[in-house]
Amino acid sequence: MRPKVFAAHRMFEPARALLEKHCEVDYWERPERPPRDELLRRVADKDALICLLTEKVNDELLERAPKLRIAATVSVGYDNIDVAACTRRKIVATHTPGVLDDTTADFAFALLMAVARRVVEGDAWMRAGTWPGWDLDQLCGGDIWGKTLGIIGFGRIGRSMAKRSQGFSMRILYSDARRAAAEIERELHAEYVELERLLAESDFVSVHVPLLPETRRLINAATLAKMKPTAYLINTSRGPVVDEAALAAALEAKQIAGAALDVFEAEPKAHPQLVGRKDVILTPHIASASVETRTKMAVMAVENVIALFEGRRPANALNAEILAAAK
Ligand SMILES: NC(=O)c1ccc[n+]([C@@H]2O[C@H](COP(=O)([O-])OP(=O)(O)OC[C@H]3O[C@@H](n4cnc5c(N)ncnc54)[C@H](O)[C@@H]3O)[C@@H](O)[C@H]2O)c1
Repeated sequence: MRPKVFAAHRMFEPARALLEKHCEVDYWERPERPPRDELLRRVADKDALICLLTEKVNDELLERAPKLRIAATVSVGYDNIDVAACTRRKIVATHTPGVLDDTTADFAFALLMAVARRVVEGDAWMRAGTWPGWDLDQLCGGDIWGKTLGIIGFGRIGRSMAKRSQGFSMRILYSDARRAAAEIERELHAEYVELERLLAESDFVSVHVPLLPETRRLINAATLAKMKPTAYLINTSRGPVVDEAALAAALEAKQIAGAALDVFEAEPKAHPQLVGRKDVILTPHIASASVETRTKMAVMAVENVIALFEGRRPANALNAEILAAAK
């Protein structure tokens, strides 16, 4: 009997081909995300779930899926999965780390450059036909080269961001719950500092922490008040890491110069007070969205599922302890 899988997306061809070789697959084929009721109905008789960050895998879902052995999210962030609830039921949870680091950092750097150099405002002028012609002080932004980049969360993506900034002769500060090894600091020319100093000294603050209880609203009125009035905030981590109302207030009060956000507290909406602002760039959670990378992520999730049913260890298990216990 081939394992039965519910795939909450039709994914990309290489991932589908691999999955169909090993499993009986029920795909969610529609363009919108599956409604909760439909998701709960479709997982009820499945051995595996392949989901996106939009699907909450929690007690409610797990109770409705008595045969489920693995929940594989096609994302590196796994705040959509209650890993402890999976562990209690001996269900393996997996994610897709590593394959999206460079693509995500490329995009975070693109946002950094676009907000500082006012790319979107310039584009809007051209489309509206409102450019009055060249002038000396038009759309003057902030320089990027030679400035200080503060990276909050110096993991895989944070470090990829540091690599990129070297090409722009930037000074790199970072803060993290754990200090990196000395050779990594040396290689990336990165200085470990307390968050307070990072906020006070950085011209760009780029956030790369996972969403955890400790990082929820890590960027709030108090932390924003510590930033320079000429500084920019870039968030490609998870929306709830930034208090959007506080950010809008800080921008209005000119406590910081601008912000670029790829993720939002209440996706798919951004805070209404951010939407009308010219000093903000808003993108729809696309930092890892290259065809190559999203394909790799989907294949990785499928490989994790197949590994489990072939009696191998899924490479990206978040609760590998249940596998060890089973041996
Ligand atoms: N916008 C997107 O499309 C997109 C794409 C990829 C990843 N992400 C987000 O980026 C996050 C980071 O991904 P990663 O692969 O670099 O993860 P990672 O685990 O390699 O790095 C996260 C870093 O944050 C640090 N950290 C954890 N808690 C902290 C705290 N309380 N204070 C300070 N630092 C803390 C960790 O020690 C680690 O170094 C993901 O969890 C995901 O939510 C978003």
